Amino acid sequence: MYPVIVKGTGAYLPERVLTNHDLEQMVDTSDEWIRQRTGILERRLASGEQATSDLSFNAARQALEMSGLAAEDLDSVIIATVTPDYLTPSTAAFVQHRLGAVKAAAFDLNAACTGFVYSLCVASGLISSGIQRNVLIVGAETLSRFVDFTDRNTCILFGDGAGAMVLSRGEDGATSRVIDHYLRADGGGWDLITIPAGGSRKAAGPSTVDAREHFFTMQGREVFKFAVSSMIELLETAFQRNSLSVEDIDLVIPHQVNYRVIESVLRKIPIPADRVYLNLDRYGNTSAASVPIALHEAAGEGRLKKGDIVLLVAFGGGLTWGYNLLRW
Ligand SMILES: CC(C)(COP(=O)(O)OP(=O)(O)OC[C@H]1O[C@@H](n2cnc3c(N)ncnc32)[C@H](O)[C@@H]1OP(=O)(O)O)[C@@H](O)C(=O)NCCC(=O)NCCS
Repeated sequence: MYPVIVKGTGAYLPERVLTNHDLEQMVDTSDEWIRQRTGILERRLASGEQATSDLSFNAARQALEMSGLAAEDLDSVIIATVTPDYLTPSTAAFVQHRLGAVKAAAFDLNAACTGFVYSLCVASGLISSGIQRNVLIVGAETLSRFVDFTDRNTCILFGDGAGAMVLSRGEDGATSRVIDHYLRADGGGWDLITIPAGGSRKAAGPSTVDAREHFFTMQGREVFKFAVSSMIELLETAFQRNSLSVEDIDLVIPHQVNYRVIESVLRKIPIPADRVYLNLDRYGNTSAASVPIALHEAAGEGRLKKGDIVLLVAFGGGLTWGYNLLRW
């Protein structure tokens, strides 16, 4: 097994800001309700011209620049998203072409909010096995195109954005490296978060459009409970599998879902709050983009020192959940 190292990270957030006060003008809600129930203050929205591949490209370019690699060095481009530009071709194909990654394979990965964590595991497998050397992974979403801005249960939660990472084969004995992964799924909970129409189960037509079935539907309370229990399982599993205690973890980067989810988890597993990175107040839930955006920001703010143990945890539609453990 070859060591897998992080060579670069990047993030892109569209400029347009949608505040809680803006949402007060759109649905029956209040800034106070949203703050108290979620911790979210504002989120970003892609411009009319921007699709998921555009957000991805901006984050990817930054990660590639930091890595010092050329686009031709990439062996794969993987985009984790549930909001692709098109059903086909993949969003990754657009990013591969625009970057000039002429030697790379390109494919999308759909594991909803866990998509980036799944991608990091897949990319690590390609590299550690010796099949590939350099892989670009991106978590990117343009959720605003699939959110029903007449539904107060969902429209307050989500935002648009992209985060990227370049992973490479490291030198033998590299200390900074990817250490462990754990991925899970339970399709029995498929209907807790879904876009009911537009796929092969329920093809798009005038009746599906009239019924607003091309937007996300979500059973918020059930998803909340799942988020808390899966995050607890992920932390406990990471500790157990790697013989770590709470004190050994320097930074946890959770999926940026809801401040109350994180609070509930920390009541059960007493990780000091300053070792859990949160930016959901500014961006809301950006699904597959949330973990890589947070990681990039945490690194940029000096929250990660060489040798730090970093745990990325995510959970979401599918249902899916998983973690990646890294030594920075
Ligand atoms: C959606 C969520 C914020 C709702 O918070 P909650 O405390 O569970 O609230 P409930 O669903 O119990 O609703 C409580 C009340 O607030 C109302 N409400 C819902 N959204 C509201 C809003 N935006 N503004 C004001 N009131 C709202 C509900 O209608 C309900 O009213 P009722 O009691 O009269 O029926 C919360 O469940 C959550 O964050 N779930 C996880 C969602 C998520 O992150 N999904 C993506 C997963 S990766």
